[in-house]
Amino acid sequence: MRTVALITGASGGIGADLARVFARHGHDLALVARSRDKLEALADAIAASGRPRPIVIALDLAEAGAAERVAAALSAAGATVAILVNNAGFGLLGGAATLDARDQLGIVDLNVRSLLDLTLRFLPEITAARGKILNVGSIVSFFAGPGMAVYYASKAFVSSFSRALTEELRPAGVTVTVLHPGMTATGFQGRAGFDNAKAMGMVPGATALSVAEAGYHALMAGRRSVVPGLGNKLGTLIMPLIPDALLLPLVRRFQESRLRAS
Ligand SMILES: NC(=O)c1ccc[n+]([C@@H]2O[C@H](COP(=O)([O-])OP(=O)(O)OC[C@H]3O[C@@H](n4cnc5c(N)ncnc54)[C@H](OP(=O)(O)O)[C@@H]3O)[C@@H](O)[C@H]2O)c1
Repeated sequence: MRTVALITGASGGIGADLARVFARHGHDLALVARSRDKLEALADAIAASGRPRPIVIALDLAEAGAAERVAAALSAAGATVAILVNNAGFGLLGGAATLDARDQLGIVDLNVRSLLDLTLRFLPEITAARGKILNVGSIVSFFAGPGMAVYYASKAFVSSFSRALTEELRPAGVTVTVLHPGMTATGFQGRAGFDNAKAMGMVPGATALSVAEAGYHALMAGRRSVVPGLGNKLGTLIMPLIPDALLLPLVRRFQESRLRAS
């Protein structure tokens, strides 16, 4: 029986670097995303570095029954999950009344529903292994986000659920860590509908590798949460102290300027 760290959204961005960091630290892996070719290439690169070749599971996590199909694929490969990394996620820039309703429900399907489904499905295995869960939130989970409302709200769910789960699972010896990245140069900005170079020009961004390393080390240390980068840390302390009447118009204007620049 293989004991794996299951990483979602591993075909690019932060998830691919999480896979590289976990592999470098000797973890056997199972990788999930929609892009099979990218997952296979990453699995080949990890195998070429002398590590066990990760199990590749190519599917759309936003579809109903996806977690069940992940479990079936792992069972067929003779693998059990000790570490779960819920990283797959996306956002959309634009007003809630303007964006397509189905697209916005897709954010909830992936960022919320699939994260919850995978967590509940693999919890018995993770508990048996006294394992660990890393959920990728965002600094935006600390406040509301006019101009990207559903995405911010989805990350508030990730944060709230993870913090509660930390306490519920403590007696079982299972740790839950939330990784809260700030702006990071990945495919995220393109899928959200804004220009990567312009967006990164407006707010200095971190590298996906530095974010992945911060997440890995916090997970291994059993920390409840980690915010990579000093500016992001200060932001998460200060922003929630600002009254909504002042903060939310600023956030809306920031998102509108990103939309105009794209
Ligand atoms: N980049 C940032 O500035 C930033 C800041 C804060 C938080 N985050 C969070 O960090 C996490 C990783 O994002 P990223 O920045 O690395 O973005 P990314 O480069 O767009 O990567 C997203 C990953 O999720 C996978 N994915 C997307 N939709 C999927 C679906 N329906 N089913 C399965 N896999 C799916 C993508 O693979 P496929 O396309 O192959 O499916 C890809 O591997 C997300 O939860 C995001 O919200 C990012």
